[in-house]
Amino acid sequence: MKVIAHRGSSQVAPENTYPAIRRAIQDHVDGIEIDVQLTKDQELVVIHDEWLNRTTNGKGFVFNTTSAQIKKLDAGSWFNKKYKGTTVPLLEEVLEWVKPYSLELHIELKNNLLPYKGMEEKVIRILNQHNLEKKAVLSSFRRESLEICRKIHPTIRTGYLCWSTLLPLLEQSEWDYLHLDSIHPHISLLDHEVTLLKNMGYRIYPYVIQRKHELKKCLRYQVDGIFTGSPNKAKQIIRET
Ligand code: G3P
Ligand code: CA
Repeated sequence: MKVIAHRGSSQVAPENTYPAIRRAIQDHVDGIEIDVQLTKDQELVVIHDEWLNRTTNGKGFVFNTTSAQIKKLDAGSWFNKKYKGTTVPLLEEVLEWVKPYSLELHIELKNNLLPYKGMEEKVIRILNQHNLEKKAVLSSFRRESLEICRKIHPTIRTGYLCWSTLLPLLEQSEWDYLHLDSIHPHISLLDHEVTLLKNMGYRIYPYVIQRKHELKKCLRYQVDGIFTGSPNKAKQIIRET
């Protein structure tokens, strides 16, 4: 079972920033998950929320703010004063950080609230420029976005995020054309459908695993990987089980 650092090692360092990604690498994770959004000047930045207020000292929407303005913000102090001066990374920066390591890079296209036209093409182009397409898994809650990814790139790995039900996915003929690599269910959806989906050939990566009993459930269902903000803790529990 792969351990994927969710927004980096986000329980111990500010999510989606260099310290969280560095910590995940030190934790010897199998993969790192990040979220991308598009700025006003169409740059890809790594931030979870559509707005800046929660994880930076800025205000307003990412789509309405330029990348230069976002780069001036502090994305570390909200978590702990010792991270003051940490910035919101561009996707390109994260690619440079992870490049030397053997990691799966899960890039969530954060387009469930805002469609972000052209985002898929930009992400795939940047991955291609960095020769990192094979390490990447592109995920989204928005099915149409994964359809666009598949049209642009016939083999890049894609994962469908589900928070309410897995049942529609059992209609295999409706989904075949997407050639999804994995399904990423919310932990509360871990039930017998997961076994059926595994038998259909999908890899299963539940999110977000915070507690011991959730991790044990993942082990029982023999999922392929988990997203967790505390990879170190998760690895210890796996070792002890
Ligand atoms: O990878 C799944 C997970 O990241 C989706 O939820 O809100 O943490 O981006 P969220
Ligand atoms: Ca995410």
